[in-house]
Amino acid sequence: MNIPVWLANRLVGAAVTEAADGPPRAVGAAREIARAGSGIAVAADSAAVSLRFLSDAIVELAVGGPDDERLPSFARLAAPLCLPPGPIELEEGDEECRLRSRALELRLRRAGLQLEVCDRQGASLLRDDERFGLAHTPRGWRVHWALEPEDRFYGLGARTGGLDRRGRRVGVWSRDALVGEATDPLYSAIPFFVIARRGRWLGVLLDSPGHSVFDFGHTVADRLSFGPCRGALSVLLFTGPTLSQVLEQYTAVTGRAPLPPRWSLGHHQSRYSYDDESEVREIAAEFRQRGIPTDAIHLDIHYMRGFRVFTFDRSRFPAPAALSADLARDGFRLVAIVDPGVKRDKRYDVYREGIEHGYFARAGGAPFYMKVWPGDAAFPDFYRAEVRRWWGDWHRVYREAGIAGIWNDMNEPAGWKHAWYVGDGVIPLGEQDPGRATHQLEDGRSVPHAAVRNAYGHLENQATYEGLLRLRPDERPFVLTRSAFAGTQRWAAQWTGDVCSTWSALRQSLPMMLGLGLSGQGFVGSDIGGFLSDSTPELYARWIQIGALAPFCRSHTSLHSHRQEPWSFGPRVEAIARAALQQRYQLLPYLYTAFRDTARTGMPLWRPLFAEFPDDADVVAVEDQVMVGPALMAAPVFEPGASSRRVVLPRGSWFDWYSGQSLEGGQALTVDAPLERMPLFVRADVAIPTQPEVRFADDRPEQPLIWEVFLTGAARGEIGLVYEDDGRSFAYQRGQSSVTRVWCDGEALRFRSGEGLYASPRSGALVRLHGAAVGDDGLLQIPHGVAEHVLPLRWA
Ligand code: GLC
Repeated sequence: MNIPVWLANRLVGAAVTEAADGPPRAVGAAREIARAGSGIAVAADSAAVSLRFLSDAIVELAVGGPDDERLPSFARLAAPLCLPPGPIELEEGDEECRLRSRALELRLRRAGLQLEVCDRQGASLLRDDERFGLAHTPRGWRVHWALEPEDRFYGLGARTGGLDRRGRRVGVWSRDALVGEATDPLYSAIPFFVIARRGRWLGVLLDSPGHSVFDFGHTVADRLSFGPCRGALSVLLFTGPTLSQVLEQYTAVTGRAPLPPRWSLGHHQSRYSYDDESEVREIAAEFRQRGIPTDAIHLDIHYMRGFRVFTFDRSRFPAPAALSADLARDGFRLVAIVDPGVKRDKRYDVYREGIEHGYFARAGGAPFYMKVWPGDAAFPDFYRAEVRRWWGDWHRVYREAGIAGIWNDMNEPAGWKHAWYVGDGVIPLGEQDPGRATHQLEDGRSVPHAAVRNAYGHLENQATYEGLLRLRPDERPFVLTRSAFAGTQRWAAQWTGDVCSTWSALRQSLPMMLGLGLSGQGFVGSDIGGFLSDSTPELYARWIQIGALAPFCRSHTSLHSHRQEPWSFGPRVEAIARAALQQRYQLLPYLYTAFRDTARTGMPLWRPLFAEFPDDADVVAVEDQVMVGPALMAAPVFEPGASSRRVVLPRGSWFDWYSGQSLEGGQALTVDAPLERMPLFVRADVAIPTQPEVRFADDRPEQPLIWEVFLTGAARGEIGLVYEDDGRSFAYQRGQSSVTRVWCDGEALRFRSGEGLYASPRSGALVRLHGAAVGDDGLLQIPHGVAEHVLPLRWA
């Protein structure tokens, strides 16, 4: 592959040096233990330790020596969304003290401060590695826990390699790098992971915004160690016991993704860059004329005047507000890219304001500059509320231009490492290392970049989300980000960055997105077709088939690469793309309902098979299939030339989504997968809410809902539901939503609506039965507006 110079810059990225931890120094014995709130404060030989309950099932461990920097938490909500713990009991013995909530017992040995976490029956859930326990190393505080042979580990954001992190040693460090097969770490720096242990789940957040290192039995096979590379240690333990409870507990502390605007669940089309207004209009017209549903077109960096954020290049985009208004009439929205680097230019008001008010990061008493797209750029100090507010307010430029969503890129933050070519000229680079930069915190303290780097993009997303909300308080903002930290889910969707147009990158996109979902970030997608280099027609077809079922669905590609609109690869691939996207739009009621679950519980739309089938040992290692919500399972094709693939069907009964053929689970089988069809399965005894074809997400709201019901005859109880609201405002928080549930008692299906105040504009509902039950004809009708409708079943 011939790599252009601008990309070679990116390959270098910000290297993470991982020196050995060095010999650990134990924390020493407890000199004094005192009750403190919902826990205890321990004075040990070399540090102060606090152990307390945030809820009955969530434990916080905080450790710091007298000289350790203590930073505010950027991950946590000011007030967690969980119930506070019930009464806490403390039992002090000579050797050990025990602290009990209603769910857990924490045992702390006085000598060496060895910790063991047990349930209330005394069964051990987690314990310190006896050789080290809690210790201080030359690289900072380290927790050392004993590993069990069958333990599995997931999370820590989007990473290359397998989903299970066991046996690996990885850094958490937000980094701009081209996604190669083994590039690590990448853009997201989420210091949260989950542990699968003996059928039970635990979650761990290392609440540190600096570089941290996690060793999952890599250095010592039966030891897990992790810690921040500087400063005090703060660890939160979420004890489940199920995976969904762990995610619920974690997102109770770090926040949940709010319901996104419905249009953002549609297809987004992007390119670096659509050159000018007429090209954008042409692209939009093509989508409509060709009958390919789409909601958004993205404007990459060339819409700006000389890469100055919050500006438009008027020679390319003379009247952005008129453009957005015209596109809106046709059901399109524009999303504009924003980079944090502000061009160093005294005649540019954003830069001038930032300098005047001291809003930029500093280096040695002067603003810190790094070269990015506009050349020398200054970087807003998002760590202060005042700076976030300023940045958020600048988004009025986009609001006035009718821009509906913001795409935050390069926010690791990224800067070039080598000379950078613009046209024929070369921009020479000076010192680029952001390590020289310092940031000012809310309390006035100045801290080195390395201490807080991982939260930089995170806080930019906060600034953007809150700014958009201030500008239009009753409109759900849409923000897309490349970098992310623990808790970013409450402000932004995320994509997996610059992936290559290769089969291995397509395959890799599954564990990357699933890894994000298991890190609390569920609204994720990967550039459909791949970003770098040219996609082939076949690769694009396979990519859009699975990409069309991803939580975030965007086609994007880079400068100089082959066109990557759905019609760019000839009529056959265009038809495949059309079918895949139409299917996404037909499934929107199901997808939207799943997003509402994410907003309530933290459970992502995309989940590994083991999340739905925790007792099925055969699905544990399956990483090339994905559950789309609780009921659908997709088996994408990752091989060129393939016309079939092997699929693992988890235990239970299944149906083929397309043919309606019933299949027995608990087996692996080879299924047909011609280019026109990605294998897709649906669990038996479910009702999936769908809708007829639309051109964009909010198109033809009066069309009926269509329930696709798959029955075996064993169905009993609730088999499906649909959540509805206006899809754009916050009225749902004031009761303007509705839920319709489908029940089966073996003899009839019952459709019950009436939960919530929202009056759906739909003209009614239709039911299509698959499987053992037979209907009178293809579609059965449910009259409009009835609170309960009973549909008798006949069995074949
Ligand atoms: C970065 C982004 C990419 C974008 C490009 C130009 O590489 O990851 O998506 O197109 O910058 O803005």
